[in-house]
Amino acid sequence: MRRFKKILKWIGLIVLFLVTGITITVMSRQNMTYTRPYPDITASDDSTIIARGKSLVFGAAHCADCHSLSNADSLFEAGQEVPMGGGFVFDLPFGKIYAANISTDIETGIGKYTDKDIARALRYGVKPDGTIVYPFMPFNNMSDDDLKAIISYLKAQKPVRNKVPDHELNVMGNILKAFLIKPVGPEGTPEKSVQPDSSAAYGQYLASVVANCKGCHTERGPTGDFIGVPFSGASAMEEVGGSFIPPNLTTDPGSRIYTWTEQNFITRFRMGRLQKGSPMPWPSYKRMGDMELKAIYRFLKTLPPSKTKALKPQH
Ligand code: HEC
Ligand code: HEC
Repeated sequence: MRRFKKILKWIGLIVLFLVTGITITVMSRQNMTYTRPYPDITASDDSTIIARGKSLVFGAAHCADCHSLSNADSLFEAGQEVPMGGGFVFDLPFGKIYAANISTDIETGIGKYTDKDIARALRYGVKPDGTIVYPFMPFNNMSDDDLKAIISYLKAQKPVRNKVPDHELNVMGNILKAFLIKPVGPEGTPEKSVQPDSSAAYGQYLASVVANCKGCHTERGPTGDFIGVPFSGASAMEEVGGSFIPPNLTTDPGSRIYTWTEQNFITRFRMGRLQKGSPMPWPSYKRMGDMELKAIYRFLKTLPPSKTKALKPQH
């Protein structure tokens, strides 16, 4: 019996050491910094470039959908230019993540960031102090010219004072951050310039790099890695307003757009959000031009047919 107690005591001590050790390791890895290069990008005050930036911010790149104040939704739906004061909260199993204030306010926004700081945050996923930008944005392979246009637009806007709360990670979030989540960077070298036109090639760029259609319409594993055939649909997304399934967009007969003509596709986007609470950023996409929508449609029609293979049962 005494021997048994002794063993228990030792096991207890070992567990205590392990837990303390793991806790210290996890906490010491919360503010890890990463070295990443600065893209050679500077803002411009050329009105054509700023206009291109604006069309991306409020359209395909849907920055406004995440970075505008939550009470701005109705204004935004009505087609207005809402300020980027931040505030959208992602309430996830590992914590609450707040979309930053990306207005030019010095204290609460990104007014202190240089053009290159912003470019690096979007392309390489690190903040000016080297800490991680969580991978919520798909712009790593955005062209130099489009990054320049977006930064030029942001820099030309008035500051909005709005203190966005700090992220609140729970224990699981801390562990994920310590060991699994790394800054996401570009695949290969991003293009200097991608010519906007109605081609499938431009559609591919929009659907994967700018508008993130791929990000939602492809099945992902538990750590966010793509595990399904791109654009073949994904498991239901649980939202406050209900459960929504990103449908298959390939050329499979089970695809949601199998029978849609190019004109049907454009008309559907002009209608905006039809299912209340759907997470798809319809108000932004509604503002895309016909050329952009044609390009996306033409690209989707080049995809091989693939059936949806969702992790969670589709209901
Ligand atoms: C799907 C939602 C979403 C979209 C769309 C989005 N963002 Fe973000 N963005 C976020 C979140 C969430 C964060 C906070 C990440 C973090 O702090 O780690 C963020 C952070 C940032 C940061 C870093 C801010 C900082 O604190 O250093 C910048 C810059 C930024 N976004 C710019 C943009 C621009 C420009 C666009 C459009 C081209 C855009 N975002 C589109 C969700 C989004
Ligand atoms: C944030 C996740 C998200 C993003 C990004 C996203 N979608 Fe969706 N999509 C959904 C969900 C969820 C639905 C189902 C609910 C609905 O129809 O609104 C959907 C529905 C659709 C539908 C069917 C609409 C209907 O009336 O049946 C089409 C077509 C579509 N998406 C295409 C796209 C394209 C093209 C893009 C990129 C420009 C895109 N989606 C980006 C999540 C997303």
